[in-house]
Amino acid sequence: MTMVAFENVTLRYGERVILENFSLRVKKRERLVIFGPSGSGKTTILRMVAGFVAPERGTVSIADRPVSADGRILVPPEKRGVGMVFQDLALWPHMSVEENVGFGLMVRKVPKMERKRRVEEILELVGLKGFGSQNPSDLSGGEQQRVALARALILEPDVLLMDEPLSSLDRPLAEHLAHEIVRLQKRVGFTLLYVTHLEEEAAIIGTRRLTIRKHTSSSQTSRPEIF
Ligand SMILES: Nc1ncnc2c1ncn2[C@@H]1O[C@H](COP(=O)(O)OP(=O)(O)OP(=O)(O)O)[C@@H](O)[C@H]1O
Ligand SMILES: [Mg+2]
Repeated sequence: MTMVAFENVTLRYGERVILENFSLRVKKRERLVIFGPSGSGKTTILRMVAGFVAPERGTVSIADRPVSADGRILVPPEKRGVGMVFQDLALWPHMSVEENVGFGLMVRKVPKMERKRRVEEILELVGLKGFGSQNPSDLSGGEQQRVALARALILEPDVLLMDEPLSSLDRPLAEHLAHEIVRLQKRVGFTLLYVTHLEEEAAIIGTRRLTIRKHTSSSQTSRPEIF
């Protein structure tokens, strides 16, 4: 099953063409690494999957359902089954780890007891058992990263978007966490779209790699390289 699809997507910011006739198919449970120079449109691709940006032309689909097309958002971000972890983790400093992780469930009005159980379950899954009452700012960079991951995974997304999530960590820790992300993905089964500019991380994470080039006047090539 195709989990994420772009069909002939064109997007410009003002006069600048970011993507032109861009097509992509990501299968369920695939781990796609998106590679490319700064400004080539990697984050923009994720933002279109998330539903913050609509393609000017073309269609974006999730699980074979069009979610944006021809300049319109058809399905809003919160209804797409898409989770996100970005480089700037944006953890809420005034909330504990368990409040951060459980926030999405609270918004969805999940009862307190069930929320507590699911928060504990997910903290254990990401290796943070017992950290619930701590403040995010008291945690190490790697631990904060796991909180951000738990916060996304607790909503059981079909698709997880990660935009250079490990780039603020030192290399050995980043590689360790990259292996953990793969382990989690295999266990939980979400489809992963992962942006990185680091070769080692790409090799650990990806079952497939998409290299995008900065758009010039010629047409964008978007044929994924398979490795
Ligand atoms: N809202 C916006 N308005 C105008 N231009 C934008 C907007 N968002 C992104 N851009 C431009 O679109 C281009 C692609 O941006 P994008 O953030 O997708 O690049 P990127 O590949 O993620 O780069 P990096 O590796 O630096 O994060 C950039 O030139 C950026 O300046
Ligand atoms: Mg970016």
